[in-house]
Amino acid sequence: MDMTKVPARSGSHNVEDLDTLRKGFDWEEIKKNFSWYKTGKVNAAYEAIDRHAEDPAKKDQVALLYSAPDREESVTFEQLRKQSNKTANIFKKYGVQKGDRVFLFMPRSPEFYANFFGILKVGAIAGPLFEAFMEQAVRDRLEDSEATMLITTPELLERVPVDDLPNLKQIVLVGADDVKDDGYINFNQEMEQASDQFEIEWVDLEDGMLIHYTSGSTGKPKGVYHVHNAMIQHYATGKWVIDFKDDDVYWCTADPGWVTGTSYGIFAPWLNGVTNVIRGGRFSPESWYETLDKHNVTIWYTAPTALRKFVSAGEELVKQYDLSSLRHIMSVGEPLNPEVITWGLRVLDLRIHDTWWMTETGAMLIVNLPSMEIRPGSMGRPIPGVDAAIVDNEGNELPPNQMGNLAIKKGWPSMMRTIWKNPGKFESYFINGWYVSGDSAYMDEDGYFWFQGRLDDVINTSGERVGPFEVESKLIEHKAVAEAGVIGKPDPERGEIIKAFITLNPDYETSDELLEDIRQFVKKGLSAHAAPREIEIKDSIPKTRSGKIMRRLLKSWELGLPTGDTSTLEE
Ligand code: WTA
Repeated sequence: MDMTKVPARSGSHNVEDLDTLRKGFDWEEIKKNFSWYKTGKVNAAYEAIDRHAEDPAKKDQVALLYSAPDREESVTFEQLRKQSNKTANIFKKYGVQKGDRVFLFMPRSPEFYANFFGILKVGAIAGPLFEAFMEQAVRDRLEDSEATMLITTPELLERVPVDDLPNLKQIVLVGADDVKDDGYINFNQEMEQASDQFEIEWVDLEDGMLIHYTSGSTGKPKGVYHVHNAMIQHYATGKWVIDFKDDDVYWCTADPGWVTGTSYGIFAPWLNGVTNVIRGGRFSPESWYETLDKHNVTIWYTAPTALRKFVSAGEELVKQYDLSSLRHIMSVGEPLNPEVITWGLRVLDLRIHDTWWMTETGAMLIVNLPSMEIRPGSMGRPIPGVDAAIVDNEGNELPPNQMGNLAIKKGWPSMMRTIWKNPGKFESYFINGWYVSGDSAYMDEDGYFWFQGRLDDVINTSGERVGPFEVESKLIEHKAVAEAGVIGKPDPERGEIIKAFITLNPDYETSDELLEDIRQFVKKGLSAHAAPREIEIKDSIPKTRSGKIMRRLLKSWELGLPTGDTSTLEE
């Protein structure tokens, strides 16, 4: 098998030829698929759910197929419409207004999605948080967003510093049998009483819809702000790239705390009116194969980390399941190893389509379509209506095969509209009309893009973006730690792991117990994925004369690479 090029699969696809579609493409044509194009009434919740619920042919179709070890449930478009009307009525009753931030800190469940759409229906902005977040991570996000309402569970409430958040006025508890404290709103009780009819708050396409917090190399996590207009690209990429057909059963494994879990776990499938599988519970190759088999999943969107685990789980395991319903697999979040693509072809007889995009871009930008030849190791080519290029640091386009900044011409529909309360940061992404991604890449003569690495210190561990600054800040809160520098260390399964270099305060001595205690401290403070897997104790941490930690130098030491220019190193 020639592994440098994988030919398109036969069969009919929504896009038969990317070049033809790109030529003369106009986003105006896509807008005609939305009801607001005719009515002028905009709300993404209406387009994703209510519109299908009002269609006699679609209203009883399963929208949400929930599958967890202890719970199986099917929710039709009509049921999801009514449930989200109820949650919207609850939010309205408790004073939530257009533009307010309402955060969700709860596991994936049918209630999560009813709440999510209820938030949009009252015109508020949703802020989904990872269930794995610990107190500091929750605090940072609620503080910065000035969220007025939080929807959570009695178990997770322990990690919410309720008394320190002056803007947080209401807490809705989902799954509480009995909420005695008057300060909390009992979700189950309210749902029983709420009306299932609701007059949707119509918004402007440029009104806020979502905030996703994500990490950069410096500072606290930043609130990436998305507006309803993003639905245009969610819908279009669903059609072109995911290749949705009416009767698809689609499964996106991403948690809605991550942008993939909203753009492609919520909007793309439901805007396209397909059945969306949502799986609760933990990851294991067995349980994931079982989900694919049991629900006859036709299209699956996941991440390289998971795929690598399937490869290591072996070929005997996969043979125990019937995956014949699958048409293709898609991947995002990290470089997709060519070996994984080969495995897909050989073991599953399926193509795996890489897609590249970011929290900031709101939707896919560089992709592989079913009708496209795959070049393993390449992320693919830009979608119609998007201009991607490799630019130098001044924003000048570079010729093919030259490495540089992967950049996108400003102005695609799902682009973030600002960084919450930090417009200066937002402006800093743009140079000469290009959005500069922070990834380095090159483009070949045929317009395929090849990822090379991150240009900043952001760590990508198992597809999760972790800012070294956040981890360093947490580390030095530990009583034994004086200074800390954190890097991503290459790892065959996780892409990168977090490695911390620390110096100890006087009176502390190295021991395995101490290192484990420090690890647990970060885990309990931030989250499990942010905890360093390796900690090394040093006599000093290299810093510049202005006091910045030289992570690049730490990384060179770790990898045994030349250290380059160290002229700014502190004496
Ligand atoms: C990385 C939201 C290689 C990249 C979807 C990017 C990828 C960062 C790919 C965004 C890919 C994403 N190949 N690297 N196909 N897709 N990345 O915002 O470094 O959590 O800048 O992802 O992930 O991370 P985020």
